[in-house]
Amino acid sequence: NYYAILMAGGVGSRFWPVSTEEFPKQFHDMLGTGDTLIQKTFNRLADLIPKENIFILTNERYNDLVFEQIPEVTKRQVVLEPAMRNTAPCILYASLKIQKENPDAVMIVAPSDHWIEDEKAFSKNVQKAFDFCAENNALMTLGITPTFPNTGYGYIEFDKTSEKVIKSVNQFREKPDYETAKTFINQGNFLWNAGIFMWSVKSVVQAFKDNQPTLYALFETGIDSYNTDFEDDFIRDNYDKSENISVDYAIMEKSKNVFVIAAEFDWNDLGTWGSLYDKLDKDHSGNAVVNSRTLTEDASGNMIRTKNDKVVVIDGLQDYIVVDKDEVLLIYPKSKEQDIKKVLQKVKTTY
Ligand code: GDD
Ligand code: MG
Repeated sequence: NYYAILMAGGVGSRFWPVSTEEFPKQFHDMLGTGDTLIQKTFNRLADLIPKENIFILTNERYNDLVFEQIPEVTKRQVVLEPAMRNTAPCILYASLKIQKENPDAVMIVAPSDHWIEDEKAFSKNVQKAFDFCAENNALMTLGITPTFPNTGYGYIEFDKTSEKVIKSVNQFREKPDYETAKTFINQGNFLWNAGIFMWSVKSVVQAFKDNQPTLYALFETGIDSYNTDFEDDFIRDNYDKSENISVDYAIMEKSKNVFVIAAEFDWNDLGTWGSLYDKLDKDHSGNAVVNSRTLTEDASGNMIRTKNDKVVVIDGLQDYIVVDKDEVLLIYPKSKEQDIKKVLQKVKTTY
């Protein structure tokens, strides 16, 4: 009864110029391991979940990339979204499909672009969560011990009196402002939301019914077409009518039956060049250098990714991102990495 939804529809704009709308980061080998991020994620999930029960949700423009990179999947398992509507619509849509196929399904929802090293510990945590979700009406998330007031994450306040591995959640707060994040961290009983969710299909569909009745009603009208030849027509005519909202705001912040399991593995959501830098091997001066014939002098803390065959010389540069791709060269301070999204917009309107 185990299923998975692999979310692969994001653009990863802070990883520009490597990640682009045409070819987003989940389809790149960002870590230089030989596998793309989505391939790594698929294989990690396949340890616990039958391959034929892993559904991939992505934008229709990435259809070819998905089938090229994961040839094991069939058309039945790939949902192509005609519009970008964030994670809530994609999760509800896939859940309704899975529910029609197997009403007793227990499932995991996973982003396609995260770094997790200890795959055994990951499987162990997910198995524990699955056991709990099969017995309880629970919306579960994986929690990460926070290290600084990151405002790009969701925060989970857990019940500190509980000695159990799986703890009930007092509140779920998506992307608080900096001051709030600081007080959360000081309080001690908060975890970051890893963006990896587990629940029974029954529980998640109920949560959408209760908290997002409009979205639920929209997708419910197509139920007869799900998993049939008419599904493509339904999704083409209706998907873009859904609200643009993430699952965190749509159901997690609003539900009372949220539970968390603290992750027993290292996790990194590879959201920025700096987070990738943290995970890569460094040279003796602390430069992370990918794919390049690079000579560095008096250079440290840099994230350098250039074309394989290009000779690159860098002297006198500290804590910069240097990324070279086709017609774009980015040289940008690591401390401003969050702004790359904005820079990209500027570039688009200027050139
Ligand atoms: N199929 C599909 N369609 N996937 C999408 C879409 C969409 O429209 N939009 C985003 N995704 C995918 C992304 O590719 C990514 O794998 C995942 O959904 C999460 O989206 P992000 O845009 O990366 O979310 P976030 O980083 O702002 O926040 C989420 O993740 C954090 C941890 O990384 C939240 O769940 C936070 O609470 C969490 O802390
Ligand atoms: Mg993210």
